[in-house]
Amino acid sequence: MTESAPLSVRDVFGRLLQDLRISVTDRCNFRCAYCMPAEIFGERYEFLPRDQILTFEEIERLTRIFAGLGVTKIRITGGEPLLRRDLPQLIRLLAAIPDIEDLTLTTNGYLLPSMAKELREAGLRRVTISLDSLDDETFRRMNGRGFGVDRVLEAIEAAEDAGLGPIKINSVVQRGVNDHLMTDLARYFKGTDKIVRFIEYMDVGTLNGWKLDDVVPSRELAARINDVTPIAPIDRNYRSETSSRYRYADGTGEIGFISSVSEPFCEDCTRARLSTDGKLYTCLFTDNGHDLRGPLRAGASDDDVRSLITSVWEQRTDRYSEERTNETVSLAREGPGRVEMYHIGG
Ligand code: GTP
Ligand code: 5AD
Ligand code: SF4
Ligand code: SF4
Repeated sequence: MTESAPLSVRDVFGRLLQDLRISVTDRCNFRCAYCMPAEIFGERYEFLPRDQILTFEEIERLTRIFAGLGVTKIRITGGEPLLRRDLPQLIRLLAAIPDIEDLTLTTNGYLLPSMAKELREAGLRRVTISLDSLDDETFRRMNGRGFGVDRVLEAIEAAEDAGLGPIKINSVVQRGVNDHLMTDLARYFKGTDKIVRFIEYMDVGTLNGWKLDDVVPSRELAARINDVTPIAPIDRNYRSETSSRYRYADGTGEIGFISSVSEPFCEDCTRARLSTDGKLYTCLFTDNGHDLRGPLRAGASDDDVRSLITSVWEQRTDRYSEERTNETVSLAREGPGRVEMYHIGG
């Protein structure tokens, strides 16, 4: 691959290819019911065998090719990415790629206390940590493994000490499960530089039994928070940002709402996803992954792979969240299905 100025690629609706979310493992130490329900992902569930998983060298090569097509932002995901052996080594490889301006990672935090420093030293810029509730009983229930909140709080502290900021806290909100605890969560981080983002529960995958009634629209949640402590909208950081940003009116911090159900943001979606087994997905809600691992292992040149990615992106018409109806949700369950979240990491 040459190191010449990056090209840019646009899809059918003119959206650039700018972000790459790389899933480095399909395994997770949690069993959140909205992602990997424990009754399905039990002891005997077979995750991907080693030879099907992209190696670090393959991920690095693909990332360089994506960077050459205009990608400037990389997010490492899973499953739980910190379960991937020697992850700092991969971070080191990716941090050395020119034109990558943002290198970050989404984690449940459980393994972060012992890894934060090493990841920072390897070149990771920042982290986003998932935390669905500060109430221990609720959190233990939601993660399906009975893990307590303390360790996640420890992870947040470790990330801060390691300089992995700005730290974002992601919370998936489900009506009747944790929505009544969200004002507490907001209050806990108010006055710190941590940015809590409330995510509308989505119909990703086919396994979580999603119903529209389970979703708390961000507008409703924002009103509840505003009643306790006034908030005001602020501008986006960048055009394709998933989160609508708000600041506390008293100047004590920022929160955000990711409203992919009630206010979809497909119009500006510049995100591609690379699954653990090397498939390229152009939407979170598709079943159609384009195999990149096969050509790579069959000896394709960088130019061949670049042409393949370009042609996939140029044909992209995805805007699932804008088209979501009850019918599309049940069609996905009955029909060809769609990729599960733990394969492409959200
Ligand atoms: P920043 O880089 O900090 O702006 O984070 P981000 O919002 O791009 O990434 P993050 O992994 O924190 O995304 C938070 C959540 O938003 C994910 O876990 C998903 O639930 C949701 N999300 C992210 N990207 C998309 C997307 O392209 N489509 C939809 N529908 N949801 C998304
Ligand atoms: N709806 C919304 N977000 C989800 N995530 C996983 N499953 C869902 C879902 N059904 C997101 C959460 C988690 C990240 C890894 O993926 O933000 O923190
Ligand atoms: Fe694991 Fe994240 Fe899925 Fe929960 S949402 S099961 S922490 S990958
Ligand atoms: Fe992008 Fe698909 Fe999400 Fe829409 S639903 S924002 S196209 S990933």
